[in-house]
Amino acid sequence: MNRKAKIIYIILITTFFIAAGLSIYYYQKLQINNKQMDEAVTFEASLPAYHFALIGEERNHEYWRLVGEGAKELESEYDVFVEYEAPKRSNPDEQLKLVDMAIKSKVDGIIVQALNDNFTPMINKAVNEGIPVITVDTDSPDSERNAYIGTDNYEAGRLAGEALVNDTNGQATVGIITGNLDNLHHQLRLQGFKDVVEDVEGIEIVAIEESNITRVEAEETAYSMLMEYENITAFYGTSSYNGLGIVAAADSLKKQNDIYVITFDAIKQNIELLENGDIDAIVEQQPFEMGNQSIKVLLDILQDREIEEIYHTDTSVIRRNDLASMTERRMLADD
Ligand code: BGC
Repeated sequence: MNRKAKIIYIILITTFFIAAGLSIYYYQKLQINNKQMDEAVTFEASLPAYHFALIGEERNHEYWRLVGEGAKELESEYDVFVEYEAPKRSNPDEQLKLVDMAIKSKVDGIIVQALNDNFTPMINKAVNEGIPVITVDTDSPDSERNAYIGTDNYEAGRLAGEALVNDTNGQATVGIITGNLDNLHHQLRLQGFKDVVEDVEGIEIVAIEESNITRVEAEETAYSMLMEYENITAFYGTSSYNGLGIVAAADSLKKQNDIYVITFDAIKQNIELLENGDIDAIVEQQPFEMGNQSIKVLLDILQDREIEEIYHTDTSVIRRNDLASMTERRMLADD
């Protein structure tokens, strides 16, 4: 083989190996890409059918955690993903921003506690963009929300009034600690209560103040009331932590045995105080049930089934001697 032929031969062999190497390289790359595509398609297919946003008042509040648990319980049964969100501390503006973000991320449905009138345009915006909205716990009746699920707050206020009249034999000087009077549900709980006790001659309401749903503010407020109106014999609290604050204030003034206390929500600490007699009665709401039903109603809307406008969850008054049957009920429900 002459020199020229040798060079051509080497070039041909080298070209052959380069071409073979490149073919193997691109073949493997193609295989990897195909695998990634397959994985992406499988992932897409395994995403839940619906993505809902649930926006409550306070992230770590026992009451709101229960609403969240009630909603999340149905995730796998109905192939939905529930994103539970809430401000760290009660903050309606932050809550509104969360609703706005849910709208922007085009969720399939929104469940929101409508704390005040500022929620109306935001709810309408969601509905007008085709996202169904359920108000939970606190309604926004003037908005275009699809449905409200929660306590009949006026009736719950009446129940509290009737319990107080009954338990004090119609003789009481009352201080009221409410969450926030800007909020419709607290206004209604107050109105219902007033409408009952106003007709009873022996009952007088001497003070009404807000706690902003914190235990600390409830305690400070109850303390100031007890100092200003020494004749107070009963307290009515319209949100979960008010009872704890009232009991702490009465305790520090050594009045815990003289004061009748009725408050909202069967959260753990309230139950303990009911057990030991510091709280006399609790208005029990059904936060778990509220979350649970919200998912079912959202699915009804999305799957074109007929819905009602208002779903009232149960409300009842529990006293110390109802605790045994209540525990039994809860155990049965857990089974
Ligand atoms: C109310 C909720 C509130 C909670 C916290 C409950 O009684 O229904 O709206 O967020 O108390 O205090």
